[in-house]
Amino acid sequence: MPILPTSWAFGEGRERETFQHLIDKQNGPRKPLVEPKPDGDQSRNAIATSGENGAKQTSLFPNRPYTGPVAEYRILGVEEYPAAVELWTDVFRVERGFFTSLLKGGGDGDNHSFGAFENGAIVSSVHVFMRQIRDRDSTPLKVGGIGSVSTHPDHRKHGHSGRLLQLAIEAMEREGCVWSFLGTGVNDHYARYGWRTVSTPDLWGTVRSDVSGKATMLTPDDTTLDAMATLYEAETARRPMATVRSNQVWRTAVRYRLDPAKGFTLGTFAGDRLTAYLAVANPWGRWAIVDAAGDESEYPHLFAAAATQLRSRDVRDVLCLLPEASAGMKAFSTIVEKVHLAESRSEMVRPIADRLSWPNLFAMYGDPRGRHCHLDAF
Ligand SMILES: CC(C)(COP(=O)(O)OP(=O)(O)OC[C@H]1O[C@@H](n2cnc3c(N)ncnc32)[C@H](O)[C@@H]1OP(=O)(O)O)[C@@H](O)C(=O)NCCC(=O)NCCS
Repeated sequence: MPILPTSWAFGEGRERETFQHLIDKQNGPRKPLVEPKPDGDQSRNAIATSGENGAKQTSLFPNRPYTGPVAEYRILGVEEYPAAVELWTDVFRVERGFFTSLLKGGGDGDNHSFGAFENGAIVSSVHVFMRQIRDRDSTPLKVGGIGSVSTHPDHRKHGHSGRLLQLAIEAMEREGCVWSFLGTGVNDHYARYGWRTVSTPDLWGTVRSDVSGKATMLTPDDTTLDAMATLYEAETARRPMATVRSNQVWRTAVRYRLDPAKGFTLGTFAGDRLTAYLAVANPWGRWAIVDAAGDESEYPHLFAAAATQLRSRDVRDVLCLLPEASAGMKAFSTIVEKVHLAESRSEMVRPIADRLSWPNLFAMYGDPRGRHCHLDAF
């Protein structure tokens, strides 16, 4: 794979009309999107080896043939989901609701979970959740999100996860996915199967002590979620990287991530009508502004109110995961002392069946108008 010029990462020749100048002044210019260098062992040439009972099975590692029990690799039936959720909660030490919200969250009917079974028990799994994500022209494309990648500790390094990732890729090819994304800390594992790391900007700041405001605290019931959905749709209709959220995504995956126990959502109203909202969550133990939509003239109130809420929770530093070139990001810069830029390398992407070119995929991630929203990620 050729090394791409870094300009592709930001969109060829495109001026970055953001408040990037502000960040550059403070931190020096933002590093270009990293990659794409050819990642280590990308060999997908499976070879046949024998399991202990002589049955044929494939291994990606000819020098270290798998000699354990023969595993069965297949898609999970819905009745097998509870066993998979057990495996996921065991491996990730995350509460059950997180996974069930994703299992139910697609509403597409073509989400898939794959499992490796040894002696009838699930020992490894990969979940693919389908989403519609807008490209740079705001056309929704079908995208496969990868999650719940886990292997029971007693069954690791047998190639199970790799085998399931290959099944996931085949399923995404069949289902017409254009590209795929995942979030991870074990990038090398996925690089072998064609995913590449994209560098995403983590913009953060220390909450100012002299900014205060008030707004209504929202609870994510059906009525509120419907009102938020209307504002979100208008806000993101032309935004690259925005997920087109089905009703079901709002009521499962999004609702779970807006749980008041995990953060807070603020709103402004004209009479009974929600005019704008701002969602703050605490993913991975870091407080972050994760979503905002609606009447931008309300943003100063909403962000000032978020500053008050954060201070009341003793939060000093907060991330802003809104697109760099957005009214939300501008409002964020007014409630923090200064905006710092850190690089995150936890997101990986890959085209599916060459339906999107690498330059286009990287350009999408480099476009300051868009950003993958935390509420739509794994
Ligand atoms: C990451 C994880 C899913 C990998 O599962 P796995 O089934 O062990 O994965 P594989 O067997 O396909 O590959 C893992 C390693 O085993 C090696 N391996 C694969 N087949 C092998 C074989 N037959 N003999 C020896 N080693 C083998 C691979 O080279 C790879 O090596 P590495 O550790 O240097 O990368 C598992 O470690 C896990 O559940 N971790 C905790 C949860 C987690 O981090 N999930 C990912 C979140 S994004």
